[in-house]
Amino acid sequence: TQGDLVYKFMNVECNVNPVFVSNVSCSLKAIDWNKSVVNMDCFLLSQLNPTLRVQVFAKDYTNQYKPFLIDVKVNVCEIIKRRNFLPYGVMFWRILQEFTNANHSCPFSGHLMARNGYMPSSYLPPFPHGFYLFKLEFWNSSTHLFGTVKFFVQVMEMIKLRNKSKTV
Ligand SMILES: *[C@@H]1O[C@H](CO)[C@@H](O)[C@H](O)[C@H]1NC(C)=O
Ligand SMILES: *[C@@H]1O[C@H](CO)[C@@H](O)[C@H](O)[C@H]1NC(C)=O
Ligand SMILES: *[C@@H]1O[C@H](CO)[C@@H](O)[C@H](O)[C@H]1NC(C)=O
Ligand SMILES: *[C@@H]1O[C@H](CO)[C@@H](O)[C@H](O)[C@H]1NC(C)=O
Ligand SMILES: *[C@@H]1O[C@H](CO)[C@@H](O)[C@H](O)[C@H]1NC(C)=O
Repeated sequence: TQGDLVYKFMNVECNVNPVFVSNVSCSLKAIDWNKSVVNMDCFLLSQLNPTLRVQVFAKDYTNQYKPFLIDVKVNVCEIIKRRNFLPYGVMFWRILQEFTNANHSCPFSGHLMARNGYMPSSYLPPFPHGFYLFKLEFWNSSTHLFGTVKFFVQVMEMIKLRNKSKTV
């Protein structure tokens, strides 16, 4: 049988345009060998009606990240109004909504935060084992990039602990 896949965050990087976004923090916390969670805070200086662009890259044998299958753009406000059903875009937005305070109608303003975020494997298609970069860009319009979040992810079998044998 196929083992349980996990999509484990190895690193996260947040970059914002300081004209539109201030006070950014972005960090990972290790939970166990299978899981680390992301916490993020930022403050929007302008209202945001985001278009989310998601690109996935896979690390190849030369240690370079190469485009991998997914490069989609979705208008988040249209998803919220249920007028837009691009599957991959919707999938990433659903994941974001589970652990951010961006779970209301557009526009977004003020304090945005994410708490204890991770990538539930049940939401994702089964990826081959390896190292990936998930790059999320938040645009207000085609000329205004508010910020970019890069998730460095290892896709692997879940590591299960065997019971320790008693040593007397
Ligand atoms: C950003 O953080 C600084 C220092 O913590 C604080 O004084 C300022 O009010 C914050 N700005 C916003 C827009 O939250
Ligand atoms: C891996 O994750 C599973 C499910 O969350 C957990 O039961 C298990 O203890 C974890 N393994 C290790 C080595 O942390
Ligand atoms: C972002 O879009 C909203 C809604 O269209 C608009 O009110 C705001 O001024 C825009 N912000 C920037 C920086 O373009
Ligand atoms: C958004 O998330 C918060 C915190 O998880 C929750 O209390 C609230 O009910 C959610 N709002 C919507 C519209 O789902
Ligand atoms: C590990 O130990 C727990 C109780 O301590 C037991 O319920 C479980 O079946 C054991 N698992 C294995 C694989 O031996």
